[in-house]
Amino acid sequence: MRQTLVAGNWKMNGSLDANRQLLNGIKAGVAEGVSAKVVVCPPAIYIPQAASLLNGSHVSWGGQNLSQEKSGAFTGEISADMLLDQQCEYVIVGHSERRALYGESDELVAQKYGAAQAAGLIPLLCVGELLEEREAGNTESVVARQLDAVIDKVGIAAIAEGIIAYEPVWAIGTGKTASPQQAQDVHAFIRRRVAEKDAGVAEKLQILYGGSVKPDNAVELFAMTDIDGGLIGGASLDAEGFLAICRAG
Ligand code: 13P
Repeated sequence: MRQTLVAGNWKMNGSLDANRQLLNGIKAGVAEGVSAKVVVCPPAIYIPQAASLLNGSHVSWGGQNLSQEKSGAFTGEISADMLLDQQCEYVIVGHSERRALYGESDELVAQKYGAAQAAGLIPLLCVGELLEEREAGNTESVVARQLDAVIDKVGIAAIAEGIIAYEPVWAIGTGKTASPQQAQDVHAFIRRRVAEKDAGVAEKLQILYGGSVKPDNAVELFAMTDIDGGLIGGASLDAEGFLAICRAG
């Protein structure tokens, strides 16, 4: 039985004041009892604030991105070891916004996944197709390409140490969620693809859905056989809404 995991990707949102309210709200709700594993990924500059407020709670935290390099002359970048210094357990890798807006290639995403996993972080690898790719019937080939780039680089044992998030790009921030069946079909495809390399790894692998998950659609999505939780954007910025999603698992 795979545990449900719900992770909030705050993207470039927040302030010290707003975060304090949000983090305290999430912490209090989770303390009342939530069976899902709950994770927040604030902007990097606010990770120390999350670490300080969440320390000792059942809420974990992580980064939204990391460098593939260990250290050195890489202005503006943050390494896996720096995230670990702030007690991050997780890091999002290959989010579609990083791929589309910052030119992250499959190869770079694979390097970042490897850097995170080798350092002891749990990489949350995002994959997903554009609307035109879905409409052209290419969803599976796109997801397979993104997934295989990482598996080929890091090996199947490293995939066992991570988490996959299927985030169809057309569903991100659009209010247009994939239907539970549409999501389930791609999740099952991802699990089959991993099973071709190692059935045991595939069975245990947590595969999250992301893309306009809200309190009113989370129960149906998380009830699908191969959906093991969610990666939540907009709805993770409101404590009550985020907690409602966490309770859906
Ligand atoms: P939304 O929940 O705002 O659609 O964002 C999803 C996402 O990109 C999470 O990483």
